[in-house]
Amino acid sequence: MSTGHILVQKSMNLQGEVALSGAKNAVLAIMASLLLTSGKSVLKNVPAISDVKQMIGILESLGVTILFDKEHNVLEIDTTSLDHNNIAQECVKKFRASFLVLGPLLTRFKDVKIALPGGDEIGARPLDYHIKNFIKMGAAIHHEDSFLYAHAKKLKAQKIVLDYPSVGATENLMMALVLIPGRSWIINAALEPEVLDLITVLQKMGASIEIVSPAMIKIDGVEKLHPITHTVMFDRLEAGSLLVAGAITQGDIYVPDAHVRDMDLFLMKLEEMGNKVICNKNGVGVRIKGAARQRAVSFKTAPYPGFATDLQPLMMIAQVVAHGTSTIVETVFENRFLHAPELNKMGADITASGHYAQVNGVKNLYGASVLATDIRAACALALAGLVAEGQTHIDGLLHWKRGYETLDQKLRDLGALLELCEGAPTVAKKVTPAIGAKKVERREL
Ligand code: UD1
Repeated sequence: MSTGHILVQKSMNLQGEVALSGAKNAVLAIMASLLLTSGKSVLKNVPAISDVKQMIGILESLGVTILFDKEHNVLEIDTTSLDHNNIAQECVKKFRASFLVLGPLLTRFKDVKIALPGGDEIGARPLDYHIKNFIKMGAAIHHEDSFLYAHAKKLKAQKIVLDYPSVGATENLMMALVLIPGRSWIINAALEPEVLDLITVLQKMGASIEIVSPAMIKIDGVEKLHPITHTVMFDRLEAGSLLVAGAITQGDIYVPDAHVRDMDLFLMKLEEMGNKVICNKNGVGVRIKGAARQRAVSFKTAPYPGFATDLQPLMMIAQVVAHGTSTIVETVFENRFLHAPELNKMGADITASGHYAQVNGVKNLYGASVLATDIRAACALALAGLVAEGQTHIDGLLHWKRGYETLDQKLRDLGALLELCEGAPTVAKKVTPAIGAKKVERREL
C-alpha cells in the first residue's frame, strides 16, 4: 500500500517571510507530562501533525478528555478522569515519543503495561537508560511479547547518572521524579531547548525542578501538581529546514520566530558556507540570503548545544550542491545516513559508512524517484528536489506528516513547486507552476 508521496520541481530563489509551527519534539513530551496533573490544561501553538494525533489517541485511551482546535492550534486536555488501564497500545507502537507516558504513569499509578514503541529507522534506539533508572528508583520491570510491564510498591528519589545525555530518558525520568518525595538529581542530562520547554511546564505545574550547571537537573519532589496553560516553543528544526531552503535556492527568507540560541552552531555553519545570515539583536528572528557560490563545510552532530542530529540530513543537502568536499560525522545515531544513497540517485556524490559521510559537491542534481525513511530525510529529499533539474518524486509521505503541519504550504508561499500527494503515485502528474509563486511581504530587519 502506498503511503503517498511528495512531488517537487526545481524552484530557485525562494523568497519571503515565513512563520513557524510549534515544535513536535516539545509538544509530545509536554502532553505526556499533563498525566501528572488532575484538571484542565490548555496548550497553545500545538502543530496538527500525525504524532500529536497518536498522542491524543493514547491520552484519550487513558480517560483524558481532549478538544483540539486545529485551526487555532489550541489543545484542551482534561485529566480529571485519568485512568491507566486501557492504554491504546496501537498508538504507542507508531512513534517512539509515546514511551514518555511511562514516567508519569509509573509515578502516579505504580503499575503500567506499555507496548515497545516504533519510530524512525535511524538506529537501534534502545531504551536502556530509561529502564535501568526506573529500576534504580525502585520499579520492577520486565518485557514479554513486545510489551513492557513496570510495577513499583514505592518509588524513591535518586541520584541518576545518564550514560549519555539522552533527550527522551532525561524527559521520562524527570517526569517520574517530580512527584517522588526527597531530592533527586539527573547528571549528564540532555539540555535541548525542547527539554527546557518541558522543565518550564513542570515548573508552572508547581514542580521544584532546576538546572544546575554543568548539565545537572535538581528535583525536590512535591506532593501534587496542578494544570497549566502553556504556549509550546517554535520548531527550531522547521526553522532549520526553511533556512537551508533559502541557502540552496540562493533565496532570501526571513523566519521571524526562529530563536538564534536554539541553533547557533547551525547558523555559524551556514555563514561559513558564504551565506548571509542576519540575526535580530534580541535573538529572535533570522534572515538568510543564499550566496551564488557556497563553500562546503564539515560538521559533527552532538547533543545540544552541538550541531543537532535532526538538522544533519538538511545540512547535507547544502553540502551536496556546494563547492568542495565536506566530512560529516554523525555521533548521535548509528544509522542516520539512509538519505545518502537516495541523494546519490539524484546525482550527489556521497560516500557514507558508519558514522562518517564524505560529500563531494556537484554542479547539478537531477530529479529522480527516491524513498524517505524518516521525518528529516523526507524534508531533506524535498529540499534536494528544489535544486534538482526536472521532477523529484519522494515516497514516504507518512514520515513528512509525522513532523510537519503546513511546511508544504509555507514552501509554496515562498515560491516552491512542491505538492503532497495522497495515495498511489500518478505517473503523469506534474507540479504545476500555478501552485507556487505566491510571494509574501517581508518585513525589513
Ligand atoms: C529525541 C528527538 C529526536 C532527536 C534525538 C536526539 C523527540 C521526540 N525526538 O529522540 O528527534 O533526534 O532526541 O536529539 O524528542 N539511547 C540509548 N539508550 C536509551 C536512550 C537513548 O542508547 O535508553 C541512545 C540512542 O540510541 C541515540 C542516543 O542515545 O543513539 C540519543 O538518543 P535520545 O537523545 O534518547 O533520542 P530520543 O529521545 O529518542
